This record gives sequence, C-alpha cells and structure tokens, in this order.
Amino acid sequence: MKRILVTGGAGFIGSNFIHYILKGYFNIELLVNLDLVTYAGNLENLSSVEGDSRYIFVKGDVRDRKLVQKLFSEYEFDTVVHFAAESHVDRSVVEPEIFLTTNIIGTQTLLDVAKSYWKIEPDNKYSREFKSGVKYLQVSTDEVYGALGTTGMFTELTPLSPNSPYSASKAGADMIVRAYHETYGLPVNITRCSNNYGPYQFPEKLIPLMIHNCLENRPLPVYGDGMQVRDWLYVEDHCSAICAVLERGTAGEVYNIGGNNEKANIQIVRLLLHSLGKGEELITYVKDRPGHDRRYAIDNSKITSQLGWKPAYSFEQGMEQTIRWYLDHQKWMERVTSGAYQSYYQRMYGK
Ligand code: NAD
Ligand code: TYD
Repeated sequence: MKRILVTGGAGFIGSNFIHYILKGYFNIELLVNLDLVTYAGNLENLSSVEGDSRYIFVKGDVRDRKLVQKLFSEYEFDTVVHFAAESHVDRSVVEPEIFLTTNIIGTQTLLDVAKSYWKIEPDNKYSREFKSGVKYLQVSTDEVYGALGTTGMFTELTPLSPNSPYSASKAGADMIVRAYHETYGLPVNITRCSNNYGPYQFPEKLIPLMIHNCLENRPLPVYGDGMQVRDWLYVEDHCSAICAVLERGTAGEVYNIGGNNEKANIQIVRLLLHSLGKGEELITYVKDRPGHDRRYAIDNSKITSQLGWKPAYSFEQGMEQTIRWYLDHQKWMERVTSGAYQSYYQRMYGK
C-alpha cells in the first residue's frame, strides 16, 4: 500500500498520472496532490477523482518548507513523484527567475524534507540508512541534454548541456537530486522524458495550441523553418514508465523515457490541419524562438531492457485519441483560453 505525494498534479502530466494510478496501477492507500494552481494548474482536470476517499488535494507551494514538513508528518508518505514546475520554454525566455526558484528551490525543499522524514537517524550526518520502501522520483526532461544535430540520440550518459532557462533550471534540479543520492544515500530516481502530448495539455504547447487555433481558424504560428524535431510520447505511456521506475528502478539511476516518434514540427502541424479538415493557408511562419533546440531524440533502450517498459500507443493511435479528446472538450478549451491566456497570446505572438 503506497502513500504518495504527487506535486503538480493539477497540471498536464500530473493530472494524467493521478487518473492513471488511481485506476489501479498500484495499491494506493493515500495520494496527496500538492499544487499551487498557477496559470498551468486546473482542478477541473481532476473533478472525476474528487470523491475518491484516497485522494487529497492541498493548495500550496513546493517551496514552502513548513507546509511540506506538515504534510510529511501528517500523511507519512513513502513515495514522492515531483512533477510541479514552470514548464514552458517560451515563458522562461521572457521571465527566467521563477523557473529557478520553482524548479530548483522547490526540488531542494522536497528532497530535504523527504531526507529528514525518511532517514533512520536524521541527526547522524554519516548515516546513509533510510526507511525501507521509500523513494523520491524527479520528473525531468530530455531538454537537459541540449540539442542534437541530424543524427544521434540522448542516452543517460549524454552530458547535460541545457540551452534555455527552463532546461537549465531542470538540469540544476537534477544535479541536486543526484547530490542527495551521492551525499546522503537518499533513494532517488530521475526520469527524463521527451515531449508529451495528450488530454489536459495547456494550449501554450505546440499540439493543443495548434488544435485550438485550427478550430478558431486562426493562423498557426510555426517558429523558424518548422524543421525542428521532437520525439513525441503519448502522456499515458509516460505515466506507465514512471510507474515502472517507481516499482523496479534501481536507486540513484536515471531513466530516459521516449517513444521513438521523431517528427518535425511542420509534420505535426500538417497532420493536425488534415485531421481537422483545415487548409494549409493557416500555416504562418514566424520569427524563431531564441536559442531554439533543433532536435531531440531519446534512446530508450535502458528502460526497455532493464525495466521491461514499452509504450502501448503508436503515434497514430495517440494522436487520434488526443485530437478526439480536444474535439470532445471544447468547453474545457474555451475556459482555459479565456482571461489571462489572451494577454499571454498577445504578448508572445502579437495580434
Ligand atoms: P504543467 O505546466 O502542465 O503543470 C505544472 C503544474 O505544477 C501546474 O499544475 C502548476 O500549478 C504546478 N506548480 C507550478 N509551480 C508550483 C509550485 N511552486 N508549487 C506547487 N505547484 C506548482 O507541466 P507538465 O507539462 O505537466 O510537466 C510536468 C513535469 O514534467 C515538469 O516537471 C516538466 O518539466 C516535466 N516534463 C514535461 C514534458 C512535457 O512535454 N510537458 C516533457 C518532459 C518533462
Ligand atoms: P513546445 O510544445 O513549446 O515544447 P518544447 O519547446 O518543450 O519542445 O514546442 C514544441 C516545438 O514546437 C518546439 O520546437 C517549438 C515549436 N513551436 C512552434 O513552432 N510554434 C509554437 O507556437 C509553439 C508553442 C511551439
């Protein structure tokens, strides 16, 4: 029976993860979702689990040490899955500071509190013994490895070389996680995943933004030449991979997660236009993102061979489900794109 702290569970991947594990992947005694509900958090994503007696929502900040301590002492977690983050590269280009505080200080706060609650002799600095069965899992990103040229893939041994304030903050957080394992022996894993897509993704990211604009017959803003490549993974496959790492990952190890689905951005945009019955005249090439990483590609052989995980969805199946979900949830899209989203869009893309 697990007692899990999930952070950032009101966001895109976190909410999918909560749905996924409460459906029965693990025997869950208790799941606390700690989320600040920033612009990216949406409790509507979790309305169907609100009545589940195992689920508790706490509105709060992962940087708030007192709150995190209170939650650990009240709920006696044995597992932490840390999703909470500022997650959008374009926002990090214009407003880097919050990325450093949320992503790095937030991670360090959680690690520190987990260490003090899980360590058998918390006051003995030489002791490396922790309660049995505890684990801290850091949800990281392939972006920490930087950009690839036309060939090659990221393995877990690829040196970190982040290019955006977002990826630099995630790399900084990964280094702190690594240090807590090396210095204190804290049982940790880091997962580094490629671009996710699926239900509940906020329409600042490529796929939901393009779907939203298509449905409104608005221009589709493609950065630069549109030939940047991302390695797409359906979000439920990310959730199953995290569960495999929680269950079978060796403490201290990093696992890359990817679905071997490299696509150029323009291919994705054309596929969406075609699926939604719109014409290519909506494509609008705009000025490129500063420091734009050209290509990401994940070598997933470690997690597939060592933990026996593999993605369940082909790219075609995942995209079909995703497009259907957004078509069926146009009210959700309307609500998340009203208000602050309008000024965000204006600021990023102009009129
Ligand atoms: P998201 O932006 O959709 O959600 C982030 C969530 O964190 C939101 O609910 C937000 O309210 C919450 N949050 C932000 N600051 C907080 C704070 N200080 N305290 C508590 N909660 C806070 O992000 P996502 O796309 O679901 O990504 C989740 C994680 O996965 C992130 O760590 C991200 O770096 C990583 N990741 C994402 C992708 C992707 O394609 N989306 C790929 C690889 C890794
Ligand atoms: P995004 O979804 O922001 O994810 P990331 O930057 O973390 O990979 O962007 C995916 C790709 O799509 C990236 O190469 C940037 C590009 N992109 C556009 O061309 N136009 C857009 O409006 C957005 C949001 C992204």
